[in-house]
Amino acid sequence: MATEQSFVRVADADDLREDNPQIVQADGHSIGLFFHEGEVHAVDNRCPHMGFPLTKGSVDDGILTCHWHHARFELSCGDTFDPFADDVRTYPVEVRDGDVYIQPNPPRDEPPEEHWRNRLEHGLRENISLVVAKSVIGLESEEVPSTVPVELGTEFGTHYRQAGWGRGLTTLGVMTNLLPALRPEDRRRALYVGLTEVADNCSGEPPFFVQEALSTDDVSAERLTEWFRDNIEVRDSDGAERVLRAGITADLDESDIAGMLVAAATDHLYLDTGHRLDFINKAFETLDHIGWERADDVLPSLVPGLASANRAEENSSWRQPIDVAQLCFDAAEELPDLLEAGGGKTWKEPDDFVDVLLGEDPHAIVDAVTDAIENGATATELARVVTFAAARRVAHFGTSNEFRDWNTVHHTYTYANAVNGLSRRTDAPEVYRGVFDAAMNVYLDRFLNTPPTPIPDPDEDRDPDAALDELMETFEVEADEEVDLAGESTADYLAAGGDADRLKRKLGEALVREDVGFHTRQNVEVAFGQYDALAAEGTEESERRARIHLIATARYLSAHTPTRRAGEQTFRIAERLNRGENIHEMD
Ligand code: FES
Repeated sequence: MATEQSFVRVADADDLREDNPQIVQADGHSIGLFFHEGEVHAVDNRCPHMGFPLTKGSVDDGILTCHWHHARFELSCGDTFDPFADDVRTYPVEVRDGDVYIQPNPPRDEPPEEHWRNRLEHGLRENISLVVAKSVIGLESEEVPSTVPVELGTEFGTHYRQAGWGRGLTTLGVMTNLLPALRPEDRRRALYVGLTEVADNCSGEPPFFVQEALSTDDVSAERLTEWFRDNIEVRDSDGAERVLRAGITADLDESDIAGMLVAAATDHLYLDTGHRLDFINKAFETLDHIGWERADDVLPSLVPGLASANRAEENSSWRQPIDVAQLCFDAAEELPDLLEAGGGKTWKEPDDFVDVLLGEDPHAIVDAVTDAIENGATATELARVVTFAAARRVAHFGTSNEFRDWNTVHHTYTYANAVNGLSRRTDAPEVYRGVFDAAMNVYLDRFLNTPPTPIPDPDEDRDPDAALDELMETFEVEADEEVDLAGESTADYLAAGGDADRLKRKLGEALVREDVGFHTRQNVEVAFGQYDALAAEGTEESERRARIHLIATARYLSAHTPTRRAGEQTFRIAERLNRGENIHEMD
């Protein structure tokens, strides 16, 4: 075996002149030798784009062109003229006494971690999924923690999109949250999915120009919150950003900052079909991974969307035939009195609480939530139950509905989950307004459960392995029956004693290989988080509810699969290139 510094003989120079180019093998590498303009050049014979053999390309004026997609490479250094293809690796060459020697393992110009970080930044900038995939794999092989690519992707996404936080950064946050639940080989895929979504979401967008923090100091959190809300109210993004940065610069507590954002995001109803509150929640979760010291980079990216968001009370569905928007506003007015009445009390969920939430009477829903607050229910408790009611909407969703209505029940689900998440970060009373909004949205979604698909009656005697195999098969077939079968096989698997962590790994495996949109990724992540929280409560009822979250998301995933899996194909090519495999038989 050749050592890192050593050269090995690979060819006769005269033969190469006669028979040019040639493929040689050295230390496990398949290398293309080219004699051009009196010099010998050695390059990795696998085109870095898709792995086709470069010796089948042509050389002219010092440029090697791969004929498959016409990428061009500067022959002596391997740099590409066409960034979609990535640079090709070259090898030092010496010709001694008529023999060609190459150095098959030359030292890199930069340490491997730095190399892959730079490549990842390049892939993000140019929106080249293959380069992103190779970088994620390269960083992992250098045992770089996953927080490093997440931090790089977050930094890129928050700086290079004028519109701020969007589906890209949300997907990256979602996939990062999912990592512990996934198989090791799917974790790198999850990072790749998240990072490519960031790159795609930023592609062609103007950058985010930073507004400086107000230089005022010694302003209370209450005053800053008031200013922030006032600016969002009049859709002044720049003013709101300056206030938010002032709060971060002044080292306000995370809970104060969360309270500020939640208050502004709930001054109006269900902003942008709930996405704005969900983005806030995801931004905080991302900071959990990469560190609160990045708050000044991350949180201001939320502001443009908050300022420009559609407000649900502007939609007729919230005003006619019943003005449910006004019901929410009226309930919010009562909050100070309700919270005072509930102080020191411990709420016990009434037996019919979920049925009321899923019922036909919006007044009864508001009354039920109001009573709960008056009886000591915390925002976290209430949001947990409303999220469960929203999961029931997904679990009961009839496949005869219009397909895009999956989004409608999904939006409610993620919104309620976001309220649940943010309620653990701030005790600002405005979080309760999110509970009312989410509950009202569960009401508005009721016709999508007409008739309701029943929650499956599981077969406890079933072989869990067979149920799991059946579930995975549903992700291979596009048919309404498969959606219901996904719910049934999930219910059977869990009732028969199947391990929930294994089920989640399988669902994760099915998720990361698909080109599904960010809604499906969000849906699975919400279900996993809600499952974990409910299962940890350890009661029979909490376990029952936990399972319904997984049943619901299995149905959602089945409804959105299979896809073309183009992203997975690119990732597999990157894996094979990384392993040094020849991609094509003619190589
Ligand atoms: S350009 Fe070479 S494989 Fe695509």
